[in-house]
Amino acid sequence: MRSTSLCLMLCSTLLSGTVLAENQTISLQQAYSPYFSVGTALSERQIRDQEPGTLDLVKQQFNVLTAENIMKWEAIEPVEGQFNFAAADAMIEFAEANNIKVIGHVLLWHEQTPAWVFQDAKGQPASKELVLSRLTNHINAVMGRYKGRIQGWDAVNEALNEDGTLRQSNWYKALGEDYIATVFEIAHKADPKAELYYNDFNLFKPEKRDGVLKLVAALKAKNVPIHGIGEQGHYSLDYPELQQVEDSIIAFGKTGLPVMITELDISVLPFPDPENIGADISLNMQLKQEFNPYAAGLPKAVSDQLSNKYLQLFELFLRHSNVVQRVTLWGVNDNQTWRNDWPMKGRTDYPLLFDRKNQPKEVVPKLIKLAEKAGK
Ligand code: XIL
Repeated sequence: MRSTSLCLMLCSTLLSGTVLAENQTISLQQAYSPYFSVGTALSERQIRDQEPGTLDLVKQQFNVLTAENIMKWEAIEPVEGQFNFAAADAMIEFAEANNIKVIGHVLLWHEQTPAWVFQDAKGQPASKELVLSRLTNHINAVMGRYKGRIQGWDAVNEALNEDGTLRQSNWYKALGEDYIATVFEIAHKADPKAELYYNDFNLFKPEKRDGVLKLVAALKAKNVPIHGIGEQGHYSLDYPELQQVEDSIIAFGKTGLPVMITELDISVLPFPDPENIGADISLNMQLKQEFNPYAAGLPKAVSDQLSNKYLQLFELFLRHSNVVQRVTLWGVNDNQTWRNDWPMKGRTDYPLLFDRKNQPKEVVPKLIKLAEKAGK
């Protein structure tokens, strides 16, 4: 088995031009498969195979995929009733041809959703009935098309404030506080076999974590079909503390739901506004060179810190693999990562496991060894 996969890897390595360490015999997803699946997010360019070598690398290293953008509302239904399915179709076909699972991202979010969803024909706030019918049509169309082909959906994304209270988003304003339950109900009807997740960032923060626990308890009390909790995992060398991540995994595990780390990346750059750590995509700060220290390359000492943080996190995930079902990196390589442009456009960040040329960083074989040493 191992020698077959070694041969397969060497063959595809030669084809894709990816150089793997000499002593690396199996891939990330193979090493971690007894514990949890290892995923990545693909940009539209990657899905359309316009980035050399990436899809070959993805086939080797990952066994579950999320679309970074192309299944969000603004991309898949930019105009009411007009759906752009081509890119999502292509990603799902690629995944199926290569025995890779697919996660849908995302059914409901206050970001990357067109303004028309919340407006009537006169440009006034749309009625509750109108917004609800648009939401139902959207979910039925998208989930209906991919019924049976998607393992699970991020059903609701980022519905909570940092203090754990409900965000007063357009969704909340239009539909009232029960809207989260409504989304899960509609989605479950559309594809009863798809898992449905609540997904958010900064869930290591005790107040926000407790907000999720309250939400999950309320949904479960009403028998709302929720099947997992997604912790995005947009981290940095400076945060979060490992203990906080561990506490959140343990607390979520007690609900009986599995935990998914859904969007892992570790920025090596200074975060310009410590009050706003996390992943609020509306942040757009002015570029200042003092916040972009590694444009010419990453010093070895910092790259070692990055390796250590990845190793510590994966060690933690392995220890809690009875709860952690999946770990998805938010991107394949440092060229693609959104962290180059958030919270400030135009920086050079290094938050992923493969570098700008799709070469594995030195931490990749170490992560593989870590899983092998765990012994299953
Ligand atoms: C990000 C994408 O990576 C960017 O390309 C896009 O411009 C903005 O959104 N939380 C989420 C993801 O749930 O969908 C976001 O992805 C990052 C934060």
